[in-house]
Amino acid sequence: MRDVESSIPNSASEAIEVELGGTELLPSVRPLWESLFEHHVAGGAAGLAVQPQGDNWPLRIARYHRIFEQQPAFVLVARQGKLVVGYALAYADEPIEEISEGPVVTIESLVVLPEMRGQGLGGWLLEEAEAEAIEQWGAEVTALEVMTGNESALKFYERAGFVEQGETWLRPDPTTGGAPQGARDIDDDRLEVLLEEGSEILAIGLEEGPDDTWVTSDVLVGCQPEPGYAADGAALEAALAPFAAAGASSVFVALDRAADPAWGETLSSHGFKKALRLFTRLIAID
Ligand SMILES: CC(C)(COP(=O)(O)OP(=O)(O)OC[C@H]1O[C@@H](n2cnc3c(N)ncnc32)[C@H](O)[C@@H]1OP(=O)(O)O)[C@@H](O)C(=O)NCCC(=O)NCCS
Repeated sequence: MRDVESSIPNSASEAIEVELGGTELLPSVRPLWESLFEHHVAGGAAGLAVQPQGDNWPLRIARYHRIFEQQPAFVLVARQGKLVVGYALAYADEPIEEISEGPVVTIESLVVLPEMRGQGLGGWLLEEAEAEAIEQWGAEVTALEVMTGNESALKFYERAGFVEQGETWLRPDPTTGGAPQGARDIDDDRLEVLLEEGSEILAIGLEEGPDDTWVTSDVLVGCQPEPGYAADGAALEAALAPFAAAGASSVFVALDRAADPAWGETLSSHGFKKALRLFTRLIAID
């Protein structure tokens, strides 16, 4: 593992130091996560209902723990004195074939304290995370998602050479289009059967929820149209309805660049909102 006891060059007054670690560092990033949540809410949260302020950190830290359990991951925490001023949380991900056969590092979170933004810290943390991912996993590509409406982050990533690869649409509830109305009972056995049966039109997986930012059901459907399948709202609803009946009413649909461009309009007319945009860049190897 590299020595990341380094300090950011050209930083203001007191030196900024970065610590590399795992779940033991997570409690220290809570204020920064909450500032990101507020930033997302201020940006409109993609027009969807958000979790109450008190609920989102417990849900977020649970998600971070699941990430560390499921794949290699690390967090970089930047401090100025005792103050945590930024962090990046990253994990090793599957290759994205259209870009490179090499491993991907997904940046799950990148946040800089509001009063420290625009001084180079975010760019530096991103590069430190990439250097660590090269060292640990031989990463060749960086991937991350930006919430619709987070214009400042979009500008930052575009300047950093990221290219848009796809988008993710969310519908929290099929009947209201908005947040699920009341808790739904989850029928795990039925969901397992449905997963095994599969669908002709969609590749479907299930994720533990609820989402930490948006109000969703406790189990989430994550799906992607099968390659080459033309946009078809009726077929989509038919594939999703049994999942909703078994309690997994909230659905994320990922569209990559190979998807039929008509899917966006179809999803929109079926109550989905474009929630996230996926960006990647090839990691520059010096
Ligand atoms: C996005 C974020 C991490 C960037 O960190 P930062 O420390 O502010 O960014 P930097 O100072 O390293 O900026 C690097 C470059 O982006 C540019 N930049 C940063 N913010 C910008 C903005 N709002 N608009 C245009 N350019 C911007 C800088 O000018 C700099 O360009 P340069 O390298 O050509 O000089 C930080 O602004 C942040 O925490 N935002 C809120 C949380 C968030 O949205 N995170 C991303 C979630 S996906």
